[in-house]
Amino acid sequence: MATETTLVLVKPDGVSRGLCGEIVGRFERRGYELRGARLLKITRALAQRHYAEHRGKPFFGELVSFITSGPVLALAVRGENAIDGVRALMGATDPADSAPGTIRGDLATLLGENVVHGSDSKASAKRELALFFPDGLV
Ligand code: RTP
Ligand code: MG
Repeated sequence: MATETTLVLVKPDGVSRGLCGEIVGRFERRGYELRGARLLKITRALAQRHYAEHRGKPFFGELVSFITSGPVLALAVRGENAIDGVRALMGATDPADSAPGTIRGDLATLLGENVVHGSDSKASAKRELALFFPDGLV
């Protein structure tokens, strides 16, 4: 176990539904610390870089369109074992499989509108934090 920083995005559906406070509160109550926060509309170029691992998959176009459809709240979240811990709080990718009590299990029903993103590994966290917080201060 180690102190880690991970990238969270409250996706456009979460922002437009007014769920930022609810979602940030869950991370804070768990004991994680906010190190950075930025509300921005992602460009197509940034979306394609952020989701580069999914390039070529059938849902890639839809994913890029969705994540660029409105503002997102980008968060740098820090704490003990934060990368896996944040993913556990988020729940399974498809809200149909997300356990009640998780963010997706409580707040989402659709795979394509699952309200949050969290980095899935140390390498992803490093890469994604650099994309959203390029000044390196987080
Ligand atoms: P995210 O990257 O957004 O945190 O989600 P994740 O790690 O739980 O899931 P990932 O496999 O990285 O997929 C990224 C997003 O793409 C959408 N998706 N659609 N139609 C499909 O089969 C499909 N599979 C994934 C989801 O919105 C997912 O969050
Ligand atoms: Mg992912």
